[in-house]
Amino acid sequence: MRTTHTINELKAYLQHHRNRGHRIALVPTMGNLHQGHLALVKAARQQADVVVTSIFVNPLQFGANEDLDSYPRTLAEDQRLLNETGNDLVFAPSPREMYPNGLDQHTRVTVPVITELHCGANRPGHFTGVATVVTLLFNIVQPDVAVFGEKDFQQLAVIRKLAQDLCLPVHVESMPTYREADGLAMSSRNRYLSPQERSKAVLIYQMLEATAEHIRKGRRDYTALTDQAVRSLAEQGFKPDYFNIVNSQTLAPAEYTDLQVTLLAAAWLGNTRLIDNISVDLKDASNH
Ligand code: PAF
Repeated sequence: MRTTHTINELKAYLQHHRNRGHRIALVPTMGNLHQGHLALVKAARQQADVVVTSIFVNPLQFGANEDLDSYPRTLAEDQRLLNETGNDLVFAPSPREMYPNGLDQHTRVTVPVITELHCGANRPGHFTGVATVVTLLFNIVQPDVAVFGEKDFQQLAVIRKLAQDLCLPVHVESMPTYREADGLAMSSRNRYLSPQERSKAVLIYQMLEATAEHIRKGRRDYTALTDQAVRSLAEQGFKPDYFNIVNSQTLAPAEYTDLQVTLLAAAWLGNTRLIDNISVDLKDASNH
């Protein structure tokens, strides 16, 4: 497995494969890889001849008071895991390689409306940072397929819309959230949790699951369910950013008649912000 830090070297490598008609897959990451990321690489492996994983802690998607400096950077260990998983090339550029004229000078890609709610409401500029770097990565790598995790449900919706609206010639693929044995969604930020916080963190998933079960059993009083979930999380010591029940396609507040809804949650536990989601298919539940 090779690693490159420059766009030119990456392009030369990929041109060689493209000339041979090889299919290329991209797995964009910020590194500090866990089993969830590796599942994306395995899915990519099955769909392409060449798998490129990018590792770039993108400064453009972090707010001024967020964890850009402390975000875990573990390139050597990531390389080891990727090598074992059948990845072909690691692209690990510096911020200067990606934004040669600095962040302020760089052209932005902004996806309207679906970026304004949920995480977007609490993290202004975050999704513009994500959309910009993902567009940049798509243009550099020109992958046939790109694979993302479903844990960042809103991010996935933003990327799908971006690819569709701008007719980007890439197939956006997603993989289900990878969970720890107790149900906690795997995330690089879980390593910020103290042992006490770690044992409590799973309550977000349990709250999503309990609320989803109410919906599966026929409840549609979404506002009451949301209020109840926020109250319970706060009582358990979380500082909830939001707990929203939305239409899975538009991410707008769910309506009584929606046939697929997604429960989105974000909450602080100490200094760690955790997000998770569960989708509920109601197509077979119309008799309720
Ligand atoms: O999900 C992530 O790790 C990042 O937001 C992404 C998609 C790699 C863009 O920096």
